[in-house]
Amino acid sequence: MDLEAEIRALQLDSADENNGVVIPEDHNSDEVENLDKAPEEDLKDEVQESVPVPDEQQASEDHDEVMLHPVHNPAKAKEKAAQDKAAKEEAEDEAEANKKRHLNVVFIGHVDAGKSTIGGQILYLSGQVDERQIQKYEKEAKDKSRESWYMAYIMDTNEEERLKGKTVEVGRAHFETQSTRFTILDAPGHKSYVPNMISGASQADIGVLVISARKGEFETGYERGGQTREHVQLAKTLGVSKLIVVVNKMDDPTVNWSKERYDEIEQKMVPFLKASGYNTKKDVVFLPISGLMGKNMDQRMGQNVCPWWSGPSFFEVLDSIEIPPRDPNGPFRMPIIDKFKDMGTVVMGKVESGSIREGDSLVVMPNKEHVKVVAIYCDEDKVKRAGPGENLRVRITGIEDEDILAGFVLSSIVNPVPVVTEFVAQLQILELLDNAIFTAGYKAILHIHAVVEECEIIELKSQIDLKTRKPMKKKVLFVKNGAAVVCRIQVTNSICIEKFSDFPQLGRFTLRTEGKTIAVGKVTELLSAASSA
Ligand code: GTP
Ligand code: MG
Repeated sequence: MDLEAEIRALQLDSADENNGVVIPEDHNSDEVENLDKAPEEDLKDEVQESVPVPDEQQASEDHDEVMLHPVHNPAKAKEKAAQDKAAKEEAEDEAEANKKRHLNVVFIGHVDAGKSTIGGQILYLSGQVDERQIQKYEKEAKDKSRESWYMAYIMDTNEEERLKGKTVEVGRAHFETQSTRFTILDAPGHKSYVPNMISGASQADIGVLVISARKGEFETGYERGGQTREHVQLAKTLGVSKLIVVVNKMDDPTVNWSKERYDEIEQKMVPFLKASGYNTKKDVVFLPISGLMGKNMDQRMGQNVCPWWSGPSFFEVLDSIEIPPRDPNGPFRMPIIDKFKDMGTVVMGKVESGSIREGDSLVVMPNKEHVKVVAIYCDEDKVKRAGPGENLRVRITGIEDEDILAGFVLSSIVNPVPVVTEFVAQLQILELLDNAIFTAGYKAILHIHAVVEECEIIELKSQIDLKTRKPMKKKVLFVKNGAAVVCRIQVTNSICIEKFSDFPQLGRFTLRTEGKTIAVGKVTELLSAASSA
């Protein structure tokens, strides 16, 4: 509806029950309908802020008020409305900028290391679980002969997980320290659920590697085939740039807060972390804790608990961890990890680049469907806008949920994410099944951000000299365990990926066969890029 006509109508008679807006008689019915359909917010933005629209109780006084100060220049009113809207958006941006920073933290490590217990303890210590609930979990755990799992039950919510004492699905929870809002992603440690761990780690900014100090447990986690190793390598490839290594179960009778045991674990872990690509001075922090007892978690420990540790508590480390700032003005990219129907289509994912605002027009790639953002939810809250790093649920119109698959990317229209069926990558071969050889024709499952697709190696381009990190000259037909190669990879269905150098989070991947990670890699070149939307 014509804004000027609306404003004139308001000046004539604002005391109408139609939210203060009188529709002049000569208005045609189309316009009336448009008014009805106009979202309340827009109407408020454009009209209420320039001309006060009274509610019914105040109608008569406000009516006089409006009559005494009529707006004679509708163009000015329009301009003011636009200015107000811009000011409001700026204030929202500022509020967003002043908000505590947000980090996604994934808990990784060998099965039974204590990841869920620590997650549960964090929720308890931050007041999100009360004594009564703890007692309920204690009873339930006891009934299932899993007494010591009661803290883990806070995170492990489904029956199978509680019965077996093992996380299956990545658990999610939220908590805050002084400087930071955290989303906890509690990954499963069991090797059968590595794909779920990959999905959790691919959403994370930092990782907490949980290691059990209990006699024998550190050893099985660390040995070949143990998930301590596999998780570290996967986390690094998936973009988890910082690791907090918590040496857990320090209270266990076989450990009893022993400094020797702690040092032994740190000394064994450091060379391995270095070999996996972590700078152990800058990117890794070690600390001893007891997740079950809640020691060295939110508060530092007293000398009576651990006389030799004078370092920070877990929360202090989380609070002060630094990661490079993200660019809120980059092209928008949100890989979709899940979708569901709820008053329209809702997609879930983490914003990897750029910002999103209610009302934005975006495109779902690779199928190039144009959509409109109708609502954004961050944690449990509805928000007007969100920046990079946030885990969101976004309600969109213009697409059906059945037309969306995990791995699709909600993307900027002017600068959409590339779509390819072929790319060049640098690969680090870890351990091939049955010590097979790696050659053209090799098939595996590609995991890249939320994409899971079958792929085939089309050509080995060159082998990389592990000492100089440079491509070797001689032609390569096959490689074995431990080798690094540049190769061409093809997928059957189109996928949305980026060069690692442009968007690391959308350009790192793993290759798996028969449930085992056989290689980690980086995308170096995009081939057969489909034209943009
Ligand atoms: P998955 O989800 O299967 O990978 O295991 P998880 O790492 O989540 O381990 P979970 O929290 O389920 O704990 C496994 C067992 O370790 C439970 O019996 C816990 O009570 C025990 N545990 C965890 N943390 C501690 C600790 O600090 N001290 C002691 N003594 N036991 C612990
Ligand atoms: Mg668990």
